[in-house]
Amino acid sequence: MKAILVTGAAGFIGSHLCEYYLRQGYQVVGMDNYLTGRVDNIEHLQQHYKSDFFFVELDVSKPWPYIENFHIQNLKYVFHFASPASVKNYQKYPLETMWVNSTGLSHAIKFADEHKARLIFASTSEIYGTPLSSPQKESDWGNVNSFGARSCYDEAKRFGESLIYTSNKFNNTSHGVVRIFNTYGPRMNAEDDRVVNSFVNLAAQAQDLMVFGDGKQTRSFCYIDDLINGITKYAGSELTQPVNLGNDSEITILELAELVITITGSKSKIVFNSLPEDDPPQRRPDLSLAYSQLGYTPSVSLTDGLKRFIGTK
Ligand SMILES: NC(=O)c1ccc[n+]([C@@H]2O[C@H](COP(=O)([O-])OP(=O)(O)OC[C@H]3O[C@@H](n4cnc5c(N)ncnc54)[C@H](O)[C@@H]3O)[C@@H](O)[C@H]2O)c1
Repeated sequence: MKAILVTGAAGFIGSHLCEYYLRQGYQVVGMDNYLTGRVDNIEHLQQHYKSDFFFVELDVSKPWPYIENFHIQNLKYVFHFASPASVKNYQKYPLETMWVNSTGLSHAIKFADEHKARLIFASTSEIYGTPLSSPQKESDWGNVNSFGARSCYDEAKRFGESLIYTSNKFNNTSHGVVRIFNTYGPRMNAEDDRVVNSFVNLAAQAQDLMVFGDGKQTRSFCYIDDLINGITKYAGSELTQPVNLGNDSEITILELAELVITITGSKSKIVFNSLPEDDPPQRRPDLSLAYSQLGYTPSVSLTDGLKRFIGTK
């Protein structure tokens, strides 16, 4: 029986990754310190997969306890997904964000190397910063403010990518990097203030939907099932270079607000507020590498994904 380890297992994406591999018959070790994750996200896994799912409550930025304690044999992948991910959370926990994507990542790499496992690091579209061209290609080096409110996240992820590159080069390993664009779906934390979740929740209560600036900034939203498909395809490949994953259909935030109101039939109004510091004007992944190397294309449209998501509320 093969095993995987997921850091950030009690979070949104981590819990879906655990579930995917448990369904495939893997043993799964999940680690989390519940900084931004929730017990609710993994309780069903603990109940349904009693003998195959092991949970370790741990701050992965601190030294890891002895590996024997984790009951792991035949470890295939380590997914390093622990990190605050929303603007609200990484600005609330800026130092924790920097440590988990550097020290925490180095612990995860060491653990993977000891087990001869392949590590996949969750990077982000935020490494592109304020893009100089669109859609964002993996070959773009990014235009990032290293000394600002978002730099704790953007630069920590950039450091993480560099750590993977350097470890591979000098330790002869084949760890990989996925650059994740905005993803939504069940188990997102309502407290995160991530835009899709926040609009859906406000619309359900007929409260105003707040749009920053003139709402013309664009984003591309990926449904969680598509993202998990992309991550697992990447893990199963031999790629070590970063690959964009997400959905390349672009929409303005204003259009998103209107779409959520239409789908929910809500009486909510749209209100405007000033743009936050370093808010990126455009986000759209170039997915040609994901397509050519992994055969990845997203299959869930925003309208269908929103309907599915709203149906789970
Ligand atoms: N959701 C997205 O749209 C998106 C986009 C780009 C990148 N990502 C990346 O994907 C990963 C997962 O994001 P998410 O949306 O599931 O976020 P999330 O906040 O729902 O999950 C992150 C999990 O990591 C845990 N965690 C944080 N610091 C920890 C530490 N020191 N030790 C142990 N656990 C810790 C949190 O408690 C949480 O359960 C993150 O690395 C994030 O940067 C997500």
